[in-house]
Amino acid sequence: MLSERINRIQPSPTLAISAKSKAMRAAGENVISFDVGEPDFDTPERIKEACIQALRDGDTKYTAAAGTPALREAICKKLQRENKLQYSADQIVVSCGGKHSLYNIFQSILNAGDEVIIPAPYWVSYPDQVLLADGVPVFLPTTQEDGFKISAQQLDDCLKNHTRVKALVLNSPSNPTGAVYSPDALRELCEVLENYPNVLVISDEIYEHMVYAPHQQWSVARFSEDFQRRTILVQGCSKSHSMTGWRIGWTASTKELASAMGKLQSQSTSNPTSFAQAGAVAAVGSAPDAAMMAEFEKRGKVIRELLNDVPGFECARPEGAFYAFPKVSGIFGKMVDKDLQINTADDLAAYLLRVAKVAIVPGEGFGAPDHVRFSYATSMAQIKEGINRILQVLPE
Ligand SMILES: Cc1ncc(COP(=O)(O)O)c(C=O)c1O
Repeated sequence: MLSERINRIQPSPTLAISAKSKAMRAAGENVISFDVGEPDFDTPERIKEACIQALRDGDTKYTAAAGTPALREAICKKLQRENKLQYSADQIVVSCGGKHSLYNIFQSILNAGDEVIIPAPYWVSYPDQVLLADGVPVFLPTTQEDGFKISAQQLDDCLKNHTRVKALVLNSPSNPTGAVYSPDALRELCEVLENYPNVLVISDEIYEHMVYAPHQQWSVARFSEDFQRRTILVQGCSKSHSMTGWRIGWTASTKELASAMGKLQSQSTSNPTSFAQAGAVAAVGSAPDAAMMAEFEKRGKVIRELLNDVPGFECARPEGAFYAFPKVSGIFGKMVDKDLQINTADDLAAYLLRVAKVAIVPGEGFGAPDHVRFSYATSMAQIKEGINRILQVLPE
């Protein structure tokens, strides 16, 4: 009964873990969650007020499929103010979250068999979305030792060996690794890409505001007009403004691609929710909450230190986003009780959830089977308590 296409993909593993830990909590269990990919801060009041006002004003009808003129204009101003990039409103398509924006991109640019380079570890949805669009994911492995960043040489070798590459996905700051590409590192990648003028860059900047000094947010779109033309920016309100449930993300691209994605949206979802778009106008009109960013930075330092105290764990300092991504293979092969051996990240996550009531996401779904992901979008007290629980149930 089901299509071959739908059978190609898996349910999102991160959403599956979250559903399980939520169910345990609903059943009265005291679970500490390091699994959620959303800030533990509420949406700022001024954004909620803008949405409520829109509802009161009767802003409850269909809007243009690609988003209201007001929001698209506000996004252009934001791109100019924060990213130093000029776009016009007809280059912006507002969608139901960054995930939907990415879906539209792959559907609009890929023909069957086209390849998409995805550096690993990667955010779980890229490969499945590429597969859904009849594309072929090509993974470029990175390690903790190389800062989870691909090198220019690696990219060049890959492009030499793959003749059907349509796009490269860059996600900086990264989920799940927290890695941030420096402007110099991006410049080196651009120098390689100059020899492959037909390769597009999908720059997923959903965590653009969460970058910790001395690291700096940068985008390949800023290098030259040509790179701006070749780059498809993906941004959104979900993380920066604590608006994950509102479902507002957008792309900035060429008019041709924006028009194609608008057409796709007009025949599939139609517009994102009208009053959520009104709230988003308020969100993109000013900088995200600095106190939230400072808190994430503080937590990133603390969780890294605590994780490095867990025998068998090795954790680099997150450079951005709100994820720590320790290597945990030091624990593989160890007995955690008389007849249970931990052999994989999956085993570890299942054991910690069952015995310590601590929810983390195993690395397999991110293409990193030696790692697990801790989201530190939770209070400092929960971070300390959670890692303490882990120490209690793992061998010395
Ligand atoms: C790297 C990355 N890109 C895109 C998204 C999608 O965000 P949204 O909630 O706006 O769909 C996420 C969300 O977790 C993400 O981590």
